[in-house]
Amino acid sequence: MRKKIVAGNWKMNNDLQESLKLFSEVANMVKDEVSNDAEIIVSAPFTNIYALDQWKNGSDIHDKIKLSGQNCCWEESGAYTGEVSAKMLKSIGAEYVIIGHSERRQYFAETNALLAKKVDLALKHELIPIFCIGETLQEREKNIHLDLIKNQLQEGLFHLIKSVVKTVVIAYEPVWAIGTGLTATPEQAQEIHAFIRQLIVEGYDEETANEVSILYGGSCNPSNAASLFSQKDIDGGLIGGASLKSRDFTDIIKTFN
Ligand code: G3P
Repeated sequence: MRKKIVAGNWKMNNDLQESLKLFSEVANMVKDEVSNDAEIIVSAPFTNIYALDQWKNGSDIHDKIKLSGQNCCWEESGAYTGEVSAKMLKSIGAEYVIIGHSERRQYFAETNALLAKKVDLALKHELIPIFCIGETLQEREKNIHLDLIKNQLQEGLFHLIKSVVKTVVIAYEPVWAIGTGLTATPEQAQEIHAFIRQLIVEGYDEETANEVSILYGGSCNPSNAASLFSQKDIDGGLIGGASLKSRDFTDIIKTFN
């Protein structure tokens, strides 16, 4: 059975003290209020992951919240100033890594081929990729979004063998819904999630497709999480703005109670 997942993507927010404050608030709320077994992930800035891992290991929340990076380098190591490797992320307590977020595709021209290399390095160092796909409003208006999503998956993920691809988490994030408050309707999101699942069936088989967790991201919040997460092919969310508020993030997690 595929995992239900609620992952917070803090993006470039929270210095060290703010990270520890937010993380401890979420941890205490989760401990007192969450009665489901959804996987909870926090993707913090690189600079704060080690401190959060240390805090986690010293608390009684230990394994309930997993840590994730927001990116990793496409190379193992070397002269790549400013980059952070998958191996380094693993060494500081990360268990997941977001790869191919639309903001990185936009600002850093990350191609599917480059992202496939990142996926391979993440897996080599036993990090679970959260592989992001999704279309811009222009692509949707031109009705090329399905082909785009198909390419993102086939070029970024579908080189993996069956036993490996089913360990990867996919996040569908319509770019036009990210940070805009314009959430995809449950029907719009379900349509694309079902399309993604069918692509996995065609690329692999039914069993593999049924094991892959497919998250929705894009203005998910406590008021719309239940209607989104109740959809057949939506297995949870990749949460941006709402993950920066401990109350909202915990309320989204409680959707699975
Ligand atoms: O990675 C999650 C993020 O892109 C969604 O952002 O603020 O619309 O929840 P937000």
